[in-house]
Amino acid sequence: MDNLLRIADITVEDVSQILGTAKRMKAKTLTQTVEGKTIALLFEKPSLRTRVSFEVAMNRLDGNTINLTPQEIGLNGREPLEDIARVLDRYVDGIVLRTFEQETIDVMAKHTKAPVINALSDIEHPCQALADLLTITEYKKDLSKITIAFIGDGNNVSTSLALACSLVGASFRIACPTDYQLTENIVAQVNRNISLYGGAFEQLTDPTLAVEGADVIYTDVWVSMGQDEARDTRIKAFQGYQVTEKLIGHAKKDAIFMHDLPAHRGEEISENILDHPQSVVFDQAENRLHAQQAVLAMLLQAANKV
Ligand code: CP
Ligand code: NVA
Repeated sequence: MDNLLRIADITVEDVSQILGTAKRMKAKTLTQTVEGKTIALLFEKPSLRTRVSFEVAMNRLDGNTINLTPQEIGLNGREPLEDIARVLDRYVDGIVLRTFEQETIDVMAKHTKAPVINALSDIEHPCQALADLLTITEYKKDLSKITIAFIGDGNNVSTSLALACSLVGASFRIACPTDYQLTENIVAQVNRNISLYGGAFEQLTDPTLAVEGADVIYTDVWVSMGQDEARDTRIKAFQGYQVTEKLIGHAKKDAIFMHDLPAHRGEEISENILDHPQSVVFDQAENRLHAQQAVLAMLLQAANKV
């Protein structure tokens, strides 16, 4: 693995290595170092979890971070993105990018030797999905025997999660309005993975049907960053897709509830769901740190991009 641009690009072996390393790092049975290495963090959108966990992960690995804003480095027009990439590549050992468009991340990766990590784009949120698998393994022993029910938008978070599930043999169901389903390309790739590694995929419109017998109930915001203009239409379209105590009651008794956060009470979740006894959302948030520490160690120690 040379970069982490999307879950769609990585292999079963990559996932297994990242999860194994993350678990050992979390348990403090493995210490790794990237001493002397510096990564740049460049975010076009707000972030609490991703930004802070990358900084802390890099500190724990004895490395350094530089925080950049799109405005100060002139990301949008002062000079071509290709030139920014080639210049940054002379200074830093890795670039962590949160962008409005996946293409910005792809172009950056194409023009750097340093590994590039997608910290969320319009298409995928790979770091989130890896941390989510780590969290699920802490509660459910065998990923190949579980069903994850995602209630809500076919967005960056559900795309990465569906792909990640299809690499580890976990079954994935998404319940969403027909206009907000995962793209055909993603569904095709998920199904190709399933034919190789097992599991199942279903796209439904009924949230109750989706959570029936599920081991994990997962939701994310209905209006992602950058979609504010479509806010009213989206809120209307997703009525009936709120995760409530009643909905959780349709899943298995020992099902866990997950949300990547930030959450919007009264929209995708009812008021007290984050504090529900089956909610693991803050463990999930913590695991961003451990999963990303493993990704950083793997990418920065190898750093063999050509
Ligand atoms: N879940 C997540 O990526 O959170 P932030 O947007 O706060 O980084
Ligand atoms: N789908 C959300 C995830 C936030 C972490 C967004 O893109 O805003």
